[in-house]
Amino acid sequence: MAPTLGAFLAAYSIAFDGDAIAMQWSIGGPLLTNPASALLGVPQGDGYSHNNYEGDTSISRYDSYTNGGDAHSSSPTRFAYAYASGMKNDRYTMDTMSRLYAKNTHRSISQNAYYFAPLFSTTLVSPAAYNFVIAFMSNHSASNPGGYLDGVQFKTWFDMTGQYPNFKWQKGQERIPDNWYHRPSTDQYAINSVFADLIPEFVAYPDTFRFGGNTAGPNTYAGVDISNVTGGVYNSANLFDGDNFACFFFQTEQQAIPQMLKGGLNDVATATDLVLKYLGPFGSKLQCPQIGKYDNDALTKYTGYGYHPMAPKSGPKNC
Ligand code: HEM
Repeated sequence: MAPTLGAFLAAYSIAFDGDAIAMQWSIGGPLLTNPASALLGVPQGDGYSHNNYEGDTSISRYDSYTNGGDAHSSSPTRFAYAYASGMKNDRYTMDTMSRLYAKNTHRSISQNAYYFAPLFSTTLVSPAAYNFVIAFMSNHSASNPGGYLDGVQFKTWFDMTGQYPNFKWQKGQERIPDNWYHRPSTDQYAINSVFADLIPEFVAYPDTFRFGGNTAGPNTYAGVDISNVTGGVYNSANLFDGDNFACFFFQTEQQAIPQMLKGGLNDVATATDLVLKYLGPFGSKLQCPQIGKYDNDALTKYTGYGYHPMAPKSGPKNC
């Protein structure tokens, strides 16, 4: 992972579900924070960052609402769908992941009354995480320098034992497979790589682009009107031309982040600056038209909009 992408992902975690004074975050449940920051409350960690960072339609994890707020425990059933997607050739690729993501969005929409895809956590992070599997978990051995992920390695990374479709998962046993080689450091995966992989996916499989959610129970998905929220600059026909999607993301995030951070534990200005410090250099290279005022209120009609479960007081299960 290019340090610029790693730093951006980490900064986002610190800003939304970590501690911007101590500059720490937890990849699991609540952060045991320093006393100065603890006065403000306990940051809930990536595991309980639903709609801010963690999103619906993950590869192996449950949708938060369908699992009582626990979006970090793995679902062997869900993993079995993922495993089946490349089982025929015992090979997992960007294309098998895109097709899987398209199918899984339909599963979420039909099974999760609170299915919600806001711009960062589900529009971008969820499908990007599928692509991360191929980009980062493929084995770049001498015989396959371009990378190859087979079923045995896929299971090892995700800590699944047993045979398809009867997998078992035990918390905390995920690991790097034996005899495994990472992608070359001369070919780091950066923020622009995320967009370079997502845009063709959105064009080839339109169901993979989700910005909206269910409005009144399962199967009531409605997308956000892109033209409405950008003052007519972008629309569904031009969103994936050239730099448009990267611009749309960068420009709306710039306006949305301070709105989203209000009411959180970190100082809004400090946390916003932290994220933009790492996102800004990517955005400043883009040639973007001016968009109108973006207002997060466009999302309030979605049932899942206000759903932000916190870790149980007894401590999060499996975290
Ligand atoms: C600072 C670095 C990183 C941060 C802050 C981060 C954060 C996150 C978060 C919040 C999620 C939950 C998203 C969701 O709901 O699907 C997630 C999922 C995921 N991430 Fe990362 N990530 C980082 C690096 C990586 C790397 C290096 C890899 C690959 C080796 C990776 C692979 C994945 C995968 C595969 C998932 C989906 C898990 C599943 O659905 O079972 N991430 N990440």
